[in-house]
Amino acid sequence: INAIAVMTSGGDSPGMNPAIRSVTRAALNQGVRVFGINRGYSGLIIGDIFELKSRNVTNIVQRGGTILKSDRCEAFKDPVVRHQAAEILKEHGIGGLIVIGGDGSLTGAHLLFHETGIPVIGLPGTIDNDIYGTDDTIGFDTALNTALEAIDKIRDTAISHERIFLVEVMGRNSGHIASQVGVACGAEMIIVPEIDFTLETLSFTLANQRAEGRGSSGIIVVAEGPRPGLTYRLARQLEIDGQTAGVCILGHIQRGGQPTGHDRVLASCLGAAAVTYLLAGETDIMVGIKNSKITAIPLLDIMEQKKPLNPELVQLAQLLHK
Ligand code: F6P
Repeated sequence: INAIAVMTSGGDSPGMNPAIRSVTRAALNQGVRVFGINRGYSGLIIGDIFELKSRNVTNIVQRGGTILKSDRCEAFKDPVVRHQAAEILKEHGIGGLIVIGGDGSLTGAHLLFHETGIPVIGLPGTIDNDIYGTDDTIGFDTALNTALEAIDKIRDTAISHERIFLVEVMGRNSGHIASQVGVACGAEMIIVPEIDFTLETLSFTLANQRAEGRGSSGIIVVAEGPRPGLTYRLARQLEIDGQTAGVCILGHIQRGGQPTGHDRVLASCLGAAAVTYLLAGETDIMVGIKNSKITAIPLLDIMEQKKPLNPELVQLAQLLHK
């Protein structure tokens, strides 16, 4: 392989820039040319590709977002489009592609390899931490800390006004962000899609907390989950129960900002490892981290398996409030 390409795809995450920097410099150091693809698969299919030199990645290790921009590309779900994409890569002399993104983006990479033979390596880039086979995804730690900073402030008001606040965090259909944020902010309750929950459970738990002399103020962390509007429905339920509840949807604030030290180190290690694997002839894998060790996981496993939530974290949050 004389040249490789790198792209960021799907929702941006803090740490994508240090990953791009690491991929670029690791490849250049081994005499391999590097191309950046703008806007993920959307840029690839229109040939929005440019050569990355070392100076292009100067001063980006501390920056949030992605210098390559990102997109969710519906067109790439079409196999004909994937074949066109492979031709574009070949025209540029690109012998392998590194995709930094979430599970949808990694699925695209897997299909591209299987249908066209273009070697691909994935890197887990998402704040959601919902990718099977890796303990950690690039951006999760920063999102966790961003959410915590916001919730610590909300708690000041919750205490001063003796109010409950329902704080909704991102995570798509998973509760990884919610469960860790919940434990770290000392939430009174954590609501995640992986654990059965009803409005009655909420009423019951809070009524118990009130009976014990607690629960007039506090934070309930709610994962956005697959039920749109859930957080507002919970607030209505609390009102029915005679408790005023504020709602705060943290939203995209969780995706931005300077990557934490943890995310910068993770991104740097995984980026360089991705290049090593690609140049060693590996393909169709994601490079992740398991028990502090860099590991390669088949992309197929990522598509087929769901990363389990640690239910102990949710129980722990409740236990710590007894
Ligand atoms: O996957 C990252 C994520 O931020 C999810 O947590 C969230 O559900 C989704 O992306 C939001 O996507 P968009 O920015 O396209 O609205």
